[in-house]
Amino acid sequence: MTITEAIKNRRTIKAFKPDSISEDDLLSWLEAASYAPNHRLNEPWGILVIGPETRSKLNHKKDFGGAPVVLAIVSKPAGTPFERDENIMAVSCFVQNFMLAAHEAGAGVYWSSMGNLPQNREILGVEQDYDVVGVLGVGYPAEVPAAKPRTPISSKITHLA
Ligand SMILES: Cc1cc2nc3c(=O)[nH]c(=O)nc-3n(C[C@H](O)[C@H](O)[C@H](O)COP(=O)(O)O)c2cc1C
Repeated sequence: MTITEAIKNRRTIKAFKPDSISEDDLLSWLEAASYAPNHRLNEPWGILVIGPETRSKLNHKKDFGGAPVVLAIVSKPAGTPFERDENIMAVSCFVQNFMLAAHEAGAGVYWSSMGNLPQNREILGVEQDYDVVGVLGVGYPAEVPAAKPRTPISSKITHLA
């Protein structure tokens, strides 16, 4: 699998097999994810491993597709709005890396943005000024949806003088 193939063939997974994910595999995908670009090497990500009690309180409409592992990925606070945005950008790269590493291993991820809603922040015990970039269901896919077609990229390009 080339990097381009991994990028194009990764899908958001919404139905998982019950098979567990080994701790070693999970750590190796998170470790790969940490090679994401990040300004001043501030490594602004944090990982919350969500247990059954917290998961049921989150009450996700599809229970994260039955994923055996659920993580929340947080972005640490910064001194200025500019740097906070930078942190969220770096953590988004971290999440994409994580999804691609999981995909390479035959696993998949459901990225939900619900974690940053006020009531869910409280359930997750997220400190003020942290951002929850995603709540991720992680597991082996029971179903892989077809790719949704993308807009031709040429229509997104603007040439500046
Ligand atoms: C920041 C972010 C938040 C997302 N939040 C949700 C979500 O709350 N619920 C959901 O079903 N999908 C969510 N997704 C997944 C997108 O719906 C999905 O990436 C999109 O449909 C394209 O499908 P693909 O990932 O299979 O290419 C999110 C994706 C991103 C990047």
